[in-house]
Amino acid sequence: MSQPFGLTGKTVVVIGGSAGMGLATAKLVAELGADVVIAARDPHRLAQAAEQINQLSGSAVGHRALSIESGDAVAEFLADYAPFDHLVLPGSTVVPVDFEHVTEANSREAFDSKFWGPFLAAMAAVPHMRHGGCVVMYSGVAADRPVRGFVVGSAINGAINALTRSLALELGTLGLRINTIAPGAVRTPLWSNVDHLQSADDIEAEASARLPVGRVGTARECAELAVALMTNGFITGEVIGIDGGAKAMR
Ligand SMILES: NC(=O)c1ccc[n+]([C@@H]2O[C@H](COP(=O)([O-])OP(=O)(O)OC[C@H]3O[C@@H](n4cnc5c(N)ncnc54)[C@H](OP(=O)(O)O)[C@@H]3O)[C@@H](O)[C@H]2O)c1
Repeated sequence: MSQPFGLTGKTVVVIGGSAGMGLATAKLVAELGADVVIAARDPHRLAQAAEQINQLSGSAVGHRALSIESGDAVAEFLADYAPFDHLVLPGSTVVPVDFEHVTEANSREAFDSKFWGPFLAAMAAVPHMRHGGCVVMYSGVAADRPVRGFVVGSAINGAINALTRSLALELGTLGLRINTIAPGAVRTPLWSNVDHLQSADDIEAEASARLPVGRVGTARECAELAVALMTNGFITGEVIGIDGGAKAMR
């Protein structure tokens, strides 16, 4: 296969690489010639993902079971696989909570996972990243298009977007970049987090009817965006929406 994005010889670390956008990204970068290292919490799903990626990659995929909230384990993992080129951070968990059930404890838990986890992982990674490398973070369209039941998630997304722009300034002096993907409705295993409220089929039907593109997104489309952000050296500090036109809806 041709390698238009030049990932041969690069190493890409994906925390959250066993499912959804992270797995799709790990597979795509392996197809494009990169060495791949993945992490996530569930060791069985992680091993299965590594096996799938191995079949696409020339070299064995490194993998380790860990949680993004465990700063020491994340730092040790990153040091063990150093040096690497790109760090992709889709792995975190934020469960939607009805407004009347929002508490300090569940709000802090969500920030610990989706904001502090990736932020501290990025900070720990910086000394181990090769010149020209890129951190790819994940926020979400809810920062700009709030939905009921997602007050804290929306705030986290906004914080990640702001972080992206200011970190770009700092990382630029080190020859590194950072960009954030802000997905809208993308059908992945994530939707099982809300299947007590709505089935994935219902979410897909509802979103497809409302979005300008008439369908929901795929993990592969998000992976293609991640590769563009990793490989285009003139993009940094950007928050790129991939949402089927959600922001154009009335
Ligand atoms: N899908 C959407 O519609 C959508 C919309 C807006 C924003 N996003 C954002 O896009 C990003 C990727 O979402 P996705 O849909 O690809 O998610 P996903 O399908 O649920 O996959 C998440 C991946 O991260 C891992 N993970 C989850 N929590 C983790 C933790 N605490 N520590 C380490 N790894 C963890 C999961 O494995 P384990 O569970 O085994 O750890 C899995 O490998 C997330 O930040 C999400 O909030 C998604």
